[in-house]
Amino acid sequence: MKIIRNSEQIDFYINAVRSSILQGGRGYYIYTFGCQQNEADSEKLRGMCEQMGFVPAATAEDAYLILVNTCAIREHAEMKALSLLGSFKAIKKKRPELIVGIVGCMAAEQHIAEKLKTDFHYISFTVEPNLIARVPELVYLSTESGKRSFVFGQDKGDVYEGLPVSRVSSHRAWVSVMYGCNNFCSYCIVPYVRGRERSRDSVDIIAECRELINSGVKEITLLGQNVNSYKSDISFAQLITKIAEIEGDFIIRFMTSHPKDTSDELIAAMRQRSDKIAPFFHLPLQSGSNAVLKTMNRTYTRESFLDIVDKLRAEISDIALSTDVIVGFPGETEEDFEQTLDIIKRVRFDNVYAFIYSPRVGTVAAKLEDAVPGTVKSERLRRLLEIQDVIALEKNIPYKDKPFRVLVDSVEERGGRVVYSGRTYTNKLVHFTGDNIRVGDFEIIKIEKTGAFDLIGSK
Ligand code: 5AD
Ligand code: SF4
Repeated sequence: MKIIRNSEQIDFYINAVRSSILQGGRGYYIYTFGCQQNEADSEKLRGMCEQMGFVPAATAEDAYLILVNTCAIREHAEMKALSLLGSFKAIKKKRPELIVGIVGCMAAEQHIAEKLKTDFHYISFTVEPNLIARVPELVYLSTESGKRSFVFGQDKGDVYEGLPVSRVSSHRAWVSVMYGCNNFCSYCIVPYVRGRERSRDSVDIIAECRELINSGVKEITLLGQNVNSYKSDISFAQLITKIAEIEGDFIIRFMTSHPKDTSDELIAAMRQRSDKIAPFFHLPLQSGSNAVLKTMNRTYTRESFLDIVDKLRAEISDIALSTDVIVGFPGETEEDFEQTLDIIKRVRFDNVYAFIYSPRVGTVAAKLEDAVPGTVKSERLRRLLEIQDVIALEKNIPYKDKPFRVLVDSVEERGGRVVYSGRTYTNKLVHFTGDNIRVGDFEIIKIEKTGAFDLIGSK
């Protein structure tokens, strides 16, 4: 792995597009599918677009450059992106100068990259997610010569520092600390499309956080496919401790964690800096059955997972927990599924993201026999959510009539009233009213009503 800092080559293409092609400020439009890493990547794409001289377009129909940041985690996400791409055909026919670029995880899947090349003639370029720094070059080639480019299989796992970034929020920010994944859970496409794990230098991360906090950011979310597998001169626990030491009023979140790397050191760091590190942990379970966990290659058991939950709750009393679960993994029996329900009932997560298993081309699980029928998968998902909805409702009841510190995230008018939204430190969504409230400030909000998915309160 190489760290590429402030690349002159990228600057060259940014300047080339700006000076030779873009007199008159043409529009760009970005679609973002999938996870927070894609959200963060799209902020870099925005940064590059703006430095190239593009201005945000109101709609894709008005844009000169459309970028689609895709997700490959499940078939559903891919189908949504492909049907969106279909809708660009008409725009391209009306305006042949339109540039359409496909970035993100779908661009790193061979069968998809080939399909995009042969079946979608109006696509100008595709580029795998670790090489988004090449977008200015591909825009340049496309505008200069009309050449179509398909950057596939060229990722060397380098880390780019100093890419332009245009952030959507001025009070919340994503900061990637590591990229890629080494775990090869048998169902998951991520290690194939995002490559092996590599961590940024802690010095670069801390400098970025300091700059953000000095510019008024109040919430930093550290990102990584396995954020707590961060490996550098210091551990992830030391990293968050150092970030917490930065002067200022802000909170730190992080995701996604792998149970295998949820160390005592990390839990202790969260407890010690509970003033700045949010008491919230996303701990993906995937399945509650040891047999299924083994075939998934998750490297923990239901017992060791429950031990981690106990430790987190013993050390950080007010901690909120969320998880990911897959139902209908190949070979999952009714008994296996009941083991998952058993953990859901025992742990009582604050939030569960449950997914129907979707076979991904190239993964080990895609070759497994014994598929669970579609109707059974949907029925299991329904049963799980039915149980979890009751738990979520009950978990929120203790919030009633108590005050919580909330970062004001957005404001809108609802039925003639001004309603603000934000999240508690434990990541609960709160809608509230009150006077003298500003987006981007912390406020103490008294909770008056609780539901399964949100809390209602006032200042
Ligand atoms: N099918 C269904 N869900 C999946 N996830 C990852 N791969 C698949 C798949 N093939 C889920 C996991 C992961 C979350 C981000 O997406 O639960 O934690
Ligand atoms: Fe996918 Fe497993 Fe890596 Fe998460 S840890 S990105 S589920 S392979």
